[in-house]
Amino acid sequence: MRIAGIVPAAGRGERLGRPTPKALVQVGALPLVVHAVAALLRAGADPVVVAAPTDAIEEVRRQVPRALVVPGGAHRWESVRLALDAIPADVDAVLVHDAARPFVPDDVVERVVAALDAGAAAVVPVAPLADTVKRVDRDGVVVETVDRSTLRAVQTPQGFRRDVLAAAHADAETLDVTDDAALVEAMGVAVQTVWGDPRAFKVTTPWDLAVAEAMWETGKA
Ligand code: CTP
Ligand code: MG
Repeated sequence: MRIAGIVPAAGRGERLGRPTPKALVQVGALPLVVHAVAALLRAGADPVVVAAPTDAIEEVRRQVPRALVVPGGAHRWESVRLALDAIPADVDAVLVHDAARPFVPDDVVERVVAALDAGAAAVVPVAPLADTVKRVDRDGVVVETVDRSTLRAVQTPQGFRRDVLAAAHADAETLDVTDDAALVEAMGVAVQTVWGDPRAFKVTTPWDLAVAEAMWETGKA
């Protein structure tokens, strides 16, 4: 099975609040996108296609010379679609991995690939929720405590049979989603889960960046 990688990296990183695009912000002296691409290359993904911010394409190309870099879009799903368009025809499956998740352990990627190998059309790495979860109304008053035992936080890389992801994206125009699996779910395709890992967390806020830097410095990454 030939597997390619897609790295959506075109976000601005509003919540991180840096002047540079988030994918180029460094942890351990390397930009986030470099770590994310390296994780997919270690798993044998070929090619790895990066969707970059339109004003940083050349800089991203310099940072990830082994990847194919294309311009990203205004939403994450648009960036994924533009990268998907650049994937060669003989690729059977794709791993979609956020540039903002620099330290996904190899065994998480391996579990996703193993599920694809075993025939899954779509697979996502997940983590249990640590906090108690409550539903609130518009005033912030608790409506109910949700049973968290059946809830999962979803990470990346998410794996898809290429034809399934392409079909999901063909209908995506009106769907406002934060991950690719949601598009596949909307088509009625079963999405399998495998265990993720806390180290696959997404760098979203300055706090997350500090955690990532501390992981790197203490050898926990
Ligand atoms: N992404 C993308 N294209 C977009 C928006 C997001 O490729 N138009 C990518 C980001 O670069 C990131 C991943 O999707 O690697 C997850 O998105 P998120 O963490 O939300 O990153 P940003 O959108 O950059 O951050 P923010 O929402 O805080 O602006
Ligand atoms: Mg975003």
